[in-house]
Parts: sequence; C-alpha cells; structure tokens
Amino acid sequence: MCGIVGYVGQRDAADVLLSGLERLEYRGYDSAGIAVFENEIIKVVKSKGRLADLKEKMQKEGKPSGHAGIGHTRWATHGEPSDRNSHPHGGGNVTLVHNGIIENYKKLKEFLLSQGRTFESDTDTEVVAQLIDYYYIENHGNPVEAIVKTLKEVEGSYALGVIFADFPDRVFALRKESPLIVGVGENESFIASDVTAILQYTKNYYLLEPGEIAVLSKQGAKIYDLHYQKIEKEMKTADWDISAAEKGGYEHYMLKEIHEQPEAIKKTITPRIENGLPNLEECGITPEKLLEFKKIHVVACGTAMHAGIVGKYVIEKLARIPVNVDIASEFRYREPLVGEGDLVIIISQSGETADSLEALKLSKRLGAKTLAIVNVKGSSIARESDMLIYTHAGPEIAVASTKAYMVQIAVMYLFAFELALANHCIDETECRRLTSLLQNTPDQISAILENKEMTQLIASELITADSLLYIGRGLDYALSMEGSLKLKEISYIHSESYAAGELKHGTISLITKNMPVIAVATQRNLLEKTISNIKEVKARGAKVILICHDAYHPEEGTADFRFGLPEYEDLLMPMLAVVPLQLIAYYTAVHKGNDVDKPRNLAKSVTVE
Ligand code: M6R
Repeated sequence: MCGIVGYVGQRDAADVLLSGLERLEYRGYDSAGIAVFENEIIKVVKSKGRLADLKEKMQKEGKPSGHAGIGHTRWATHGEPSDRNSHPHGGGNVTLVHNGIIENYKKLKEFLLSQGRTFESDTDTEVVAQLIDYYYIENHGNPVEAIVKTLKEVEGSYALGVIFADFPDRVFALRKESPLIVGVGENESFIASDVTAILQYTKNYYLLEPGEIAVLSKQGAKIYDLHYQKIEKEMKTADWDISAAEKGGYEHYMLKEIHEQPEAIKKTITPRIENGLPNLEECGITPEKLLEFKKIHVVACGTAMHAGIVGKYVIEKLARIPVNVDIASEFRYREPLVGEGDLVIIISQSGETADSLEALKLSKRLGAKTLAIVNVKGSSIARESDMLIYTHAGPEIAVASTKAYMVQIAVMYLFAFELALANHCIDETECRRLTSLLQNTPDQISAILENKEMTQLIASELITADSLLYIGRGLDYALSMEGSLKLKEISYIHSESYAAGELKHGTISLITKNMPVIAVATQRNLLEKTISNIKEVKARGAKVILICHDAYHPEEGTADFRFGLPEYEDLLMPMLAVVPLQLIAYYTAVHKGNDVDKPRNLAKSVTVE
C-alpha cells in the first residue's frame, strides 16, 4: 500500500525521494507527491497517476531543489485518487505523508472545523496534519510535543513522515501498525516504508517501534519515546543488496523472481537441514515442542493462504494432525475455536498484512502458540510471533507473488517432515529420503525454466478468453488455486479453481465451446479420476491444457495442449507444477500488454483491513 520516503543530507532531496518512491512502486499506488525545503520554504509537487506523471509535472512546474524532504505514493482509501487528495498534505506549519487509516478522522475533523480550520482534501491524512499544527501552535512551537499530543488523539494505523516549516533541516517520523524504518548513512538520514527504498544509499537502519518518534538530521537520527526521552536502539544491517531489488536484465520483476526460485529454495532450506534431516531449532521449534500441538491452524491471505493449503495436505498426509486453513480476514471475526494446545501458523511475505497481523495477535490472546513464516526481516508479524521461520527469498518486488510462494511451501514441507518424524508417523529413513528430494527440487525447477516455449504458446491461446477454469484433485487442486489467482491478478481474465470431482455439482454448466480449462494432474493415485473429469469438460467443448508428468500421455483427443513435468515424487509436485502456472499467467499478461509488475487496483503489501 502507500509508500513513504524521507531524506535529510547533502544530496538532492527530490532525486533521493523519487528514486526511493520508484523502489516502493511495487507496493501499489494511484498518485504520488513530494515536499522539499527549497531555500527554507516547503515546496510541494503532487499528482494523480504514476511517478512518470509526477516527473512530467515537475518538468513543467520546476523540480524542488533542496536537501531535505518527504515523498509518498498513495493507494487511495479516503477520497478518490486525484491531485488534491495526493500526499503530502499540509496544515499551517506542518506538511506530512501518511500510510494507514485514521479511524476517528471524522470526529477530529469536526473538532478542527469548530476551531475555524478549513480543509483542502477529502483525506483522513489532512486531519492529522491540521491537528499536529493545532498542537504545535498551542505548545509554542515544539514539534515533538505537538506530535505526542496528536498521537494521543488519533485512532487507527499510521506511519507518518512530517516536516515543520520552522525546522528546514529536520524530518520527523513515527508509526503505529504501518511499517517504517529509519536509515542512517554518512551525513545523511532517511525514512522509508521498507529497506529496498534506501538500499542504494545505506544498508544500516533502525526499525521504528510504535510509540517512538524519530528526528532526522544530517548528523544522523535520534529516536525518542513519548516522554521525549532518548532511546538507544540496535542498528540493523540489511542482508539484501541493491542488485537483488533490480531487474537484472529481465523484462519484468515477476519473470526475474520466477527464475530466482531455485536459489531461493536453497537459501531457505539449506540452513534448516542437518545431517540430512530437518532441524528447525534456531527458529524455536524442537521435536518435543511439536508434540505439544494437537491441532494446527494456518492463517494467511491470498497467495500465502494458498501456500497454507498445500501445507495442510502435506501435514495431514504425513503427520496425521488436523490442519485448518483460514483466510485471515475471516478468521479474525468468526470467533475461531482456537486455544491452548493449538499452533497457529501465520504465513506472510511482507509480514505486514493487516489481517494476518491481527489474526496472530488474536491467536495469542486466545492462548495458542504462534509460528510466523515471513520473508521480510524485522516485519511486524515476525516480531509478534512466538516462533519464527524466515524465508530467504530476497526482496519480492512484483505484486504477483511467485518466489515467496515457492519458499513458503518449501518451509511447509520441511515443517511437515519434522513433525511427521516427531510423531513417529514416518521413520528417519523416510524423513531423510523426503528431505533429500526436497533439496533436489531446485534442479528440477531449473530444468522446467529452460522449457518456456510451451507456456508461451498456451498463453497465446488464453488471451482471447473471457473466463477459464483450473481443475485438479488433492494437491493438484490446492495448487490450482494459486494458478488461478496468478492468472486473474495480472491478466485480468476471470478464472476459478475447482476440485475436479466437484464440477458435476454445478460449475460444469459454465463450459462452452473453446473455454480453456487448465487441468493439473500430477497425483498418480488420482490420475484416472482426474482424466475422467477432463473428458467430461472436453465432451462439452472445453479447450484442455493438461499439466502432468512427462511420461504420461493421455489417449488422443483428451487434451489440446500438454505441459510435461519431470518425473518426481507426487508429494512434491506442487513445487514443480506451480512454475508453468506462473509462466502461463506471466506470458498471458505480457501478451495482453498489461502492467505485469504493478497490476491495476492491487497493492503489494495490504496494510489496511
Ligand atoms: O505479504 P503477504 O504474503 O501477507 O500478502 C498476502 C497477499 O496479499 C498476497 O499473497 C497477494 O495475494 C499477492 N498479490 C498474490 O500474488
């Protein structure tokens, strides 16, 4: 969602802000703006649309020139996307950018209106700017006191970057729920929604906690608590380098990230395997601890939730423990039956998804133990959970998640193997065999990535479709959910995933001549049944695209296109079969000329509920 960048130093602030905002584009946005101190006067330029529109505006109106400022990409919540609603917003002495939602903004606005204040936008953000200014005047020009007083009044989620007209060499920052980091370089400091925005300048940063206020200057960043006491914080060092966040010769981040999957799996699982067996001790998970859990819940959103569904099939099959998978936004509000003795696994790439974070907090309140599987280091979900497994996918920039999903399921396999061994559902020999197969998946995936032509051909068949179906049974059904989501989010073609055996109970009536049906059939014990379902849709005119083991050749006329996957253990096939599904979605979106990395209406990190 919204992205924030702030800078104080010796460089051209507008350039730093714009390059930082470019790196945050993946979060999703519909307008952008910056505010820079030019000769000690705050100059604001903002525009609806992309950063290119903002730059065009600057060419006409002039680029603000100075060494301190704040910048923002906005994903509209309160007020339509427009120049007027774009950030930064001002109120007298104060100009600020905001990520999050101010829940009680109406009440605060009424109060400010009663004080004779007027508003220029429809946003909740402007209310905060005006309120800080109100207290700034009341407190005789003390910025931190004004911020603290405002915080006491404001309800909701926020990360704020604030500048005061009277302090042209300072940037102030604070957060609650929405993420914000404070970067420190030589004679310069930064704020950013995530570390990728400042990686080209510095790898050193502080994680700002709720209730902390950062005051940035050229000399560095000072962090205070709400009583204006200075806090000494541990400096973090990013282990991602800038090349990891760049396209590296690929046309899109999504394609680059699909190709990074073999490496991402290795980085994620290798440190968690010892003597051929899973070892999750450094993540706080021991075999003894695992035996305490009688029931497992996996809670997540979108692609991460789909990784949880694969996890459910694998854990239940191998470790014989019941696993519930929930969409986080449903889990939160349905009084879930969760309590002591339960393990709640929260999966999240960003570690900042608002619903997943709240589901985690709820689970803790209900007495369950929590395990987070998270990609972004130091994110809120990572910090809140009892146990933590970091996935090492590196920065995922494309909105459509690919490598994060891959490593999430890799972790689910490793976890399932360890749990099954602890439960004595499999013996050590079998655990070693499965672990070694998991370790070899990167090579299999690399081989699939060599063979993209068929996925391009299939994609060219899909571009004219209005709607299609993904079908499968067992793990293939679990996987087809992800294939369907990938396609619809970037190609804008409607698609649904269906359990192949369920089609006859309603959905088969949708099949018309040439409607594409992507059938995933990698589970050999279910193959005959899936093939019968394929024949049913084929008989009704469907154009069938079959994803199966390479050695399997169905009877002539069963499928129109066939993508053969390497011969491999059925249990691990989702890790292989997801690759052609990702590529089909990718090439379909490319053929349609869509903005693959930044699909319309979507944000990378959904920090509002
Ligand atoms: O950061 P998270 O993994 O918590 O994000 C969850 C979903 O928003 C995310 O997976 C979303 O569905 C992706 N755009 C799918 O590609």
